[in-house]
Amino acid sequence: MQLTLSIAAIVLGSAQLVSAGCSNIKSVMTIVLENTDYSEAIAQSYMGATLPPKGYLLTNYFGVSHPSQGNYIAMVAGGVNGCKSDSNCNLGVKSVADLLEAKGLTWKSYQESYPGNCYTGSRSGTYYRKHNPFMSFTSISGNATRCARNVVASQLDKDAANNALPNYMFYSPDINNDGHDTGAAYADRWLKSFLEPKLTNPAYKDTLFHVVFDESDTTSPNYIYSILLGQGIAAAGKKDSTKYTHYSFLATLEGIFDLGNLGQNDATAAKIPLKCVA
Ligand SMILES: *[C@@H]1O[C@H](CO)[C@@H](O)[C@H](O)[C@H]1NC(C)=O
Repeated sequence: MQLTLSIAAIVLGSAQLVSAGCSNIKSVMTIVLENTDYSEAIAQSYMGATLPPKGYLLTNYFGVSHPSQGNYIAMVAGGVNGCKSDSNCNLGVKSVADLLEAKGLTWKSYQESYPGNCYTGSRSGTYYRKHNPFMSFTSISGNATRCARNVVASQLDKDAANNALPNYMFYSPDINNDGHDTGAAYADRWLKSFLEPKLTNPAYKDTLFHVVFDESDTTSPNYIYSILLGQGIAAAGKKDSTKYTHYSFLATLEGIFDLGNLGQNDATAAKIPLKCVA
């Protein structure tokens, strides 16, 4: 009896990290860049030429809203939830953070130039709350312990060095590095400096990276660049023209960690079929 129970526990334990076709993934990082049409992103040297042969390019991927903030909320909550402007939003709904914690999994929102201390203001220097969706959920913004643990500024290198990468990482470069105030070529150079070393760094060998824009630059269609990369996925040079949106990646993330769903658009969105390196 005891033996059966402990085997069940082992199976359950690993099941948290399996699913969606790939068990090699132990952490997922979403990196969000700003306001660029697919055609402009794919014309950049790093995003357009260097990354696609190494990764899984999603060539028919769409933002769900304009302006920025609704897309960020959608990425982690499965819906825009009424956040139709960039003004501060305060929501009583659940986000993927709740699903992760319910499974005993960890997450962090890494926000460049975030001042810390559960700062709820809309802007501080080059940090903007509209690009930090987790501060829009009152169960996080209203809980100093939870904020302090999960919403941080420049702690990623330390976490990687300590072998303490959270299971889910939401990375927002600041208003310059994400291209918002600087343009796609600037964001492309920043991305190369940030991401390229991580693609071969052993600390990230089990990390799935998702590089995505929040929204297109032109209003319609909301057609954006999106690519998956990682040492654990077998996808080099793959291109997928299935229609996906921010909800598809949220559903994929939920599948990877067997999280269930939030009952919003994530519940019905198609998951992106990932394959592991054998
Ligand atoms: C605040 O967050 C901590 C850490 O996530 C959690 O243990 C605690 O229950 C939360 N408090 C409330 C009142 O929700």
